[in-house]
Amino acid sequence: MSNIIWTDDLNVGIDSIDIQHRHIVNLFNTLNETYKHGEISRSNALLSELIDYKLAHFTFEEDLLKKSDYPLYKMHRVSHELLTNTCLDLHQRAESGEFIVHEAIPFLRTVLVRHMKGEDADYAIYLREAHYTKQQTGRGWLSALKRAFK
Ligand SMILES: [Fe+2]
Ligand SMILES: [Fe+2]
Repeated sequence: MSNIIWTDDLNVGIDSIDIQHRHIVNLFNTLNETYKHGEISRSNALLSELIDYKLAHFTFEEDLLKKSDYPLYKMHRVSHELLTNTCLDLHQRAESGEFIVHEAIPFLRTVLVRHMKGEDADYAIYLREAHYTKQQTGRGWLSALKRAFK
């Protein structure tokens, strides 16, 4: 499995989020390399670290989206919940002694990139616009809401 190369389309343009996303990508790449080198126990530890960090990141994002009155907050939360359920299942199986890193890597690679380029990029457009609009006009995310249903 190839590493995730950080390309410009992964940047959402919100510093706190981009820093966390980069950390997630770095953790994934370290896990991937460690697994390729056959370091089983370190792979298990890195998988746990990646899942823990990912779940904390979801909480951070949901808090940010709620505070920002993001109109698609609930949809985003559902998307996180689906990923969280699979991550917790993987975590539980790993904790019970099953080696699942080889299964987790392709799953995580796909969903991490898809979520960052998809739903995360979507909310970033709204947050950036809402921030800009608010600065310019004193009005919030109404224009962002209109764009959501274009
Ligand atoms: Fe994210
Ligand atoms: Fe997200």
